[in-house]
Amino acid sequence: MCASSLTPPFVAEVDTPALVLDKTKLLDNIRRMADFVSGGPAKLRPHAKTHKCVEIAKLQLDAGAVGITCAKVGEAEALADGGIPDILVANQIVGPLKIARLVALARRCVLGVAVDDAQNVRRLSEAAAAAGVTVRALVEVDVGMGRCGVQPGAPALTLARQVLSSPGLVFSGLQAYEGHLQNVTPFEERTARVIEDMRKALTAKERIEAAGIAVAEVSGCGTGTHTITGRLPWMTELQCGSYATMDAQYRAVGGADYENALTVLATVISRPRPGMAVVDAGLKAVTPEFGDPTVLVEGAAWHDFSEEHGEVAVSGPAEGLRVGDKIQVVPRHGCTTVNLYDRFHVVQDGALVDTWRVAGRGRSQ
Ligand SMILES: Cc1ncc(COP(=O)(O)O)c(C=O)c1O
Repeated sequence: MCASSLTPPFVAEVDTPALVLDKTKLLDNIRRMADFVSGGPAKLRPHAKTHKCVEIAKLQLDAGAVGITCAKVGEAEALADGGIPDILVANQIVGPLKIARLVALARRCVLGVAVDDAQNVRRLSEAAAAAGVTVRALVEVDVGMGRCGVQPGAPALTLARQVLSSPGLVFSGLQAYEGHLQNVTPFEERTARVIEDMRKALTAKERIEAAGIAVAEVSGCGTGTHTITGRLPWMTELQCGSYATMDAQYRAVGGADYENALTVLATVISRPRPGMAVVDAGLKAVTPEFGDPTVLVEGAAWHDFSEEHGEVAVSGPAEGLRVGDKIQVVPRHGCTTVNLYDRFHVVQDGALVDTWRVAGRGRSQ
């Protein structure tokens, strides 16, 4: 069987390697998460770190999201340029150059930022006050990830008090991301650990509220934990991101409710020997983080990467692959793979219907 007889017509119009987005699956994923969130208590503020794309962010807002999350000032600028009105940079923004850009952005959209350091809070406050803008600050609490964030007791209260008395800043609540638990299996263990670790966010909230300070938001959560964290009664915002496009990693750890909308299209450039096909997608086209991509051809399995080549082991039906055939692979990690491309090729019912810019691509400053 020749795989090319199975390939959809859009491949004739798209050169490779290329990022392909199945619009029907994307819309299904967005709707499914919106349906989940409509059950409360929290609202959705999807993380744009995966798609980095204004068009997708707008679809998420149209489906009810209250705003967008991102990691970098550059990503926030790209989203604001595209008209996204409410953005949380769920990260520490440090240094005068970045703070100046952050504050400038607050003139164009409702803007939030995570903080976990007294000196950083002072710098943000000075810059925001001097510019005459207001920035929402969320005190980041370390809920067990061991990355950024203050501890949930006295340190969280001290920083919340400082933010509260800082001109140009509004204390908006807590940033509490349980990133260390997104991939835990089995799911029962993930559930138990989320409930245990997210208690730290609740502790911080209660400690701050006991001091008479309102905690409007507790923002966190990812695709892997949304069915758990998303039902904690005191969570107010869910930052899930990958669910919209999905990737092989989240499917591997049980994200079966959401479909792989994202693939990389690659061309078979060599059939050097039986059992092996070589494609034009290597490390510069699909990132190897978390593991090998999934090849969407029966009988084909990813074998190895080099810079510009991907080796695909073929057997059975996949032996029919010929030089020039195009195949689709699902990246193991969507976020870092999308960051390699300028645009999504948007396909629907087998046809190319649009191209969308990965506007935040490479905006890592
Ligand atoms: C701060 C923050 N919030 C939320 C997420 C959740 O994203 P995802 O749903 O893609 O796991 C991430 C992922 O890295 C993150 O860093």
